[in-house]
Amino acid sequence: MQTIRTVDWSSDGLAVRIIDQRRLPGTFVERDLSTLDEICDAIRTLAVRGAPAIGVAGAMGMVVALSPFVDEPIARFRERVRSVATTIRATRPTAVNLPWAVARMLRVADASANSPRAVVDALRAEATSIRDEDRAMCERIGTHGLPLLPDGARVLTHCNAGALATAGIGTALAPIYLAAGAGRRIEVFVDETRPLLQGSRLTSWELSRAGIPVTVIADNMAASLMRAGRIDLCIVGADRIARNGDVANKVGTYGVAVAAHHHGIPLYVAAPWSTFDPATPDGAAIEIEQRNADEIRCGFGTLTAAPEAAVHNPAFDVTPSALITAIISDRGVHRPPYDFGAMPAPTEAAVA
Ligand code: MRU
Repeated sequence: MQTIRTVDWSSDGLAVRIIDQRRLPGTFVERDLSTLDEICDAIRTLAVRGAPAIGVAGAMGMVVALSPFVDEPIARFRERVRSVATTIRATRPTAVNLPWAVARMLRVADASANSPRAVVDALRAEATSIRDEDRAMCERIGTHGLPLLPDGARVLTHCNAGALATAGIGTALAPIYLAAGAGRRIEVFVDETRPLLQGSRLTSWELSRAGIPVTVIADNMAASLMRAGRIDLCIVGADRIARNGDVANKVGTYGVAVAAHHHGIPLYVAAPWSTFDPATPDGAAIEIEQRNADEIRCGFGTLTAAPEAAVHNPAFDVTPSALITAIISDRGVHRPPYDFGAMPAPTEAAVA
């Protein structure tokens, strides 16, 4: 498969280069983000999206936003580091990968030598490591998940947890790419994923590009396909995994989980270590992002609800751990009862 570079440095290293996912599948266009405003806007508007990818973009974005200020006095520059970190971290609240990456960057800034230029150099190296580690974690998730995908498996996924959501080959899609690469016949059903259609716009694009058979279904068809015996297993990604194994992921994941449980179909969640949040005891403590009503009322520019009607538009929901067969991470396949409390915390507290 030709590599998808979802988020990376620009060729001169002065900007963050992203694939603008708002334009897919119709138009493939890369954009260079070279200011704090551009970086925050790209994350908020889902030009770059998916939990691991926004962590990488946030880390690289800190470097880009701070680089023009290397001639400032160090005390002022250190204040700027904290304010840039806080601004980037506030763009989206649910995926823990973003505060996790920002906290890592802050730790490096605090520990580095007393010149702004040295701080920026150290931050650039750390952001590059975050990108490279994400790539490596995706590969390992693929390896751990591979035995769960027999030849001929018919897999349901929701949203996009593929290459477009990470710096590597994805999380939920990683075992699928590896299985297909090993010659197994894998068929993927993807929920279109209302309201922003990450399933139909993005997952179908990247799987088709890789030559993997993919069928897009409306979200409300998944349960009846399960009942008809046409789904063998489900794999989804995650935005935050609480200590007890409850999982926040794209809204609609909970419905998939309930239907899968009812039909005795395994539901796997795939995520890198950067998505686990031992500081959050359970799903009830996860902040769910509420998005603009127009995404539902006026999706993609067409009026699809009465303008006077109220709209409820949470971007994510929580699937209780009791509905999750196993969680596939870069460290292995975790089975219930889940207790991720022993893991190193993502130290959100590092951001003032
Ligand atoms: O709002 P999005 O498109 O950023 O939501 C993405 C998801 O919910 C993904 O499933 C999740 O981030 C995992 S990506 C590997």
